[in-house]
Amino acid sequence: MPTPKRTPLIAGNWKMNGLRNSSQEIIQLRDHLAQVPSLNCDVLICPPFTLLNTFADLVHNTPIQLGGQDCHSAASGAHTGDISAPMLKDCGAGWVIVGHSERRSDHGESSQLVLDKAKAGLKAGLNVIVCVGETEVQRDAGETLAVVGEQLTHSVPAGSTAAKLVIAYEPVWAIGTGRTPTDQEIEQVHGFIRQQLTKRIGEQGQAMRCLYGGSVKPSNAAQILPLNDVDGALIGGASLKARDLIDVINHCN
Ligand code: 13P
Repeated sequence: MPTPKRTPLIAGNWKMNGLRNSSQEIIQLRDHLAQVPSLNCDVLICPPFTLLNTFADLVHNTPIQLGGQDCHSAASGAHTGDISAPMLKDCGAGWVIVGHSERRSDHGESSQLVLDKAKAGLKAGLNVIVCVGETEVQRDAGETLAVVGEQLTHSVPAGSTAAKLVIAYEPVWAIGTGRTPTDQEIEQVHGFIRQQLTKRIGEQGQAMRCLYGGSVKPSNAAQILPLNDVDGALIGGASLKARDLIDVINHCN
């Protein structure tokens, strides 16, 4: 089967960071991208919910897309403090991240719940990023592929398409630590994810983007982004500063 062309996605996950004055970073990113003659990747920013509306006004008619970092599995109802997928869409988001390891650990989210959230995102017309990844204990025990396989099987909705769903492989021990897996380790897991997706959803699995996340920054992007089956990055800390994100994006161009 010929490998389909997959446009890289550079996605920033701001986590619980950013106040209204962070708009200056989005403006800097937007104004820089306006000067790039042809952008070779998709660009997505997932700020905290509180900034979505403000940022939506700033990025209207630009290549910058917006997403939420989580959503509830229901469209509306008595769920104090939660945000639904239709609400994200209403704020100008086109994407939602589900199953981030910080949600799985801080909020005890199971793969079943992540699946329900992914379905809710798709139903609302959002593109969905499903995160998977092992802890250090699991890696040391040789369980990486088993853990990632379980998360994929139980968190990715049946019939998912490459146009609407993206996988992010984020080893928990590489998040915010400055540590990254070796190139071989990244390629092994991404190759496994591709194989599992293809087994499950056929050609769509070949075309589906698989991002790497965990301590991606300007200094290692040139090494990580060209690896086999790596179709972009999900970036935490280094996405908060426009300059750093621009440096990563430049490695796709
Ligand atoms: P860092 O890039 O800060 O390691 O975070 C990665 C991440 O969790 C993105 O979702």
